Amino acid sequence: MNLIKLFKGENKSIPCWFMRQAGRYLPEYQNLRKGCPDFIQFCMTPDLITEATLQPLRRYDLDAGIIFSDILMIPKAVGQRVWFEKNHGPRLEPYREDIHWNTTLDTLSPVYEGISRVRELMPSEKALIGFAGAPYTLACYMLEGATTRTFSKAKTWGFQNPEKMKSLLENLSDKIIDHLQRQIEAGCNLVQLFDSWASTVPDAYVEPWLIDPMKKITQELKHSHPEVPIIAFLKDLGGWIPDYVRETNVDAISLSSSENLKKLLLQIPQSVVVQGALDPYLLVAGGENMREEIKREISLLKERRHIFNLGHGIVPETPPKHVQEALEILRSVEKTQMEKAS
Ligand code: CP3
Repeated sequence: MNLIKLFKGENKSIPCWFMRQAGRYLPEYQNLRKGCPDFIQFCMTPDLITEATLQPLRRYDLDAGIIFSDILMIPKAVGQRVWFEKNHGPRLEPYREDIHWNTTLDTLSPVYEGISRVRELMPSEKALIGFAGAPYTLACYMLEGATTRTFSKAKTWGFQNPEKMKSLLENLSDKIIDHLQRQIEAGCNLVQLFDSWASTVPDAYVEPWLIDPMKKITQELKHSHPEVPIIAFLKDLGGWIPDYVRETNVDAISLSSSENLKKLLLQIPQSVVVQGALDPYLLVAGGENMREEIKREISLLKERRHIFNLGHGIVPETPPKHVQEALEILRSVEKTQMEKAS
């Protein structure tokens, strides 16, 4: 597996996968979804999980599949009702403080079954990525009940109830650890944590809300599954990233398109793999600007262990042929670089 080899420094080329590589920009995904309008139900059906995960791998020569699921499966599993409204995204019933945190994740067994099937069907040289939302982003959804971008309700609650927020993040961390361990046991080769709303955290709260919970997650996973690489995606976290990486001991950091790449790279240890960070709208635009930006990124990252990816997920309006084009550019730039070096 080229992607796993990267973490050992033995890869043959720059590994590539895309966040949201499965999903609405693919007509075959839209067809599959028509048969199951309830998105949560879709995510609880092993056949559909398997098919949606494999769809992008049939079209493109990617180095990894990411299991088709959602970060909101954890709030659902602990008993908070979650549903998706067309054009509004996720909705969650109001947060109750009496959540039964000792509930097991057994209700998510269809997810793990989907993983086992995908692993069986996927070519052995492709890695399978498991994932979870990071504690803060999950707390945001549980407290806010929807995507609001500011997450003002969730944050205000956290500021007013620091001890309760700490305990919510701890309880979530325990569930995330369990969920990721089950995904690994079912066949995932590496895992990614999504902290999509990290940039809404004020300076003084980065340690207690983002770093401390993640430290516990990496510690436990490194203990139970030392061979499984952990990638952290902290959307637009900016200047805190070097501290985050040092303190949490993650194996790879997934960078957003807005980061000051040159400056950040000077502060991220060489041992840490860097993933990213093409702007998803360059993939919508395609053409010369996309080509230039891919070249620039590969050149900035040429001395580093690098996973080629986006700074956030593929958006629905992306023409599927631009994904193919990006991969072709990646491979041709890589070839030119290798020829120059030899
Ligand atoms: O291909 C993949 O990357 C794997 C599948 C995946 C989905 N969600 C499928 C999905 C992954 C990794 C996620 C993670 C996720 N889910 C995140 C973190 C990453 C990020 O985007 O920041 C978040 C915040 C969520 C919560 C969530 N789920 C939202 C906000 C939405 C609505 C998105 C929108 O654009 O409307 C979802 C729904 C969702 N999750 C879809 C998919 C393919 C769209 C569902 C559909 O209508 O078919």
